Amino acid sequence: MANAGLIVRGPSGELLMSTLFAFLHHLCAFTLVAALAVEFTLIRQELTVSIAQRMQVANRVLGAAAAALFIVGILRVLFFEKGYDYYLHSYALLAKITLFVVIGALSVIPTQEFLSWSASIEAGQAPVLDARRKRLVSTIIHGELAAIVVILLCAAVMARGGWV
Ligand code: HEM
Repeated sequence: MANAGLIVRGPSGELLMSTLFAFLHHLCAFTLVAALAVEFTLIRQELTVSIAQRMQVANRVLGAAAAALFIVGILRVLFFEKGYDYYLHSYALLAKITLFVVIGALSVIPTQEFLSWSASIEAGQAPVLDARRKRLVSTIIHGELAAIVVILLCAAVMARGGWV
C-alpha cells in the first residue's frame, strides 16, 4: 500500500493510523451536522441577542469542523484506506468533494450575515434580519443539509468500491 512507510511502520501501525483518521473524519462530520442542525433550529426562532450569539457560535463550530473534515479527508485520500490511485478514479469522491466545495461556497452567505450581527450584539440589541434575508439564509441551511444526505450516499458507495 502506498502509505506503508508513513509515520508508523508495519501493518498494526497502518491500521492504527487508518482507524484514527476514520474516527477523526466521523467526529468532524458529526460535529458539522450537529452545528448545522443547531443553525436550522435557531433560524426559525425570533431573533434575540442570545439567539444571535448562539448562531454565531454554531457557525464558528461549523466552519472549524468543515475545515478539519476537509483536511482529514484529503489525508485519508492520500495516505490511508484504499490508496490515492483508487480515489483519483472515484466518481463518488469527485461528487462528494464537488458538493462539499459548493455548499462551502454557499455557506459564506449565512456566515457573512451572522458576522454582521456583532455590533448589535455588543450593543445588547437584537440584530435586524428582514424576511427576504431570513428566507435566503434559511434556504441555504436547508440546501446544506440536503447536500450532506447526498454526500453520505457518495461516502458509502466510495467506501465499497462503487462509481469508479
Ligand atoms: C460533509 C462532508 C462529509 C461527510 C458527511 C463525510 C462522511 C463520510 C463517511 C460517513 C464515511 C464512511 C463511509 C463508509 O465507510 O461507509 C466517509 C469516508 C470517507 N471520506 Fe468523507 N465525508 C465528508 C467529506 C469528505 C471530504 C471533503 C473528503 C475528501 C477530501 C472525504 C474523504 C473520505 C474518504 C477518503 C473516506 C474513506 C472511504 C473509504 O473507506 O474508502 N470526505 N466520509
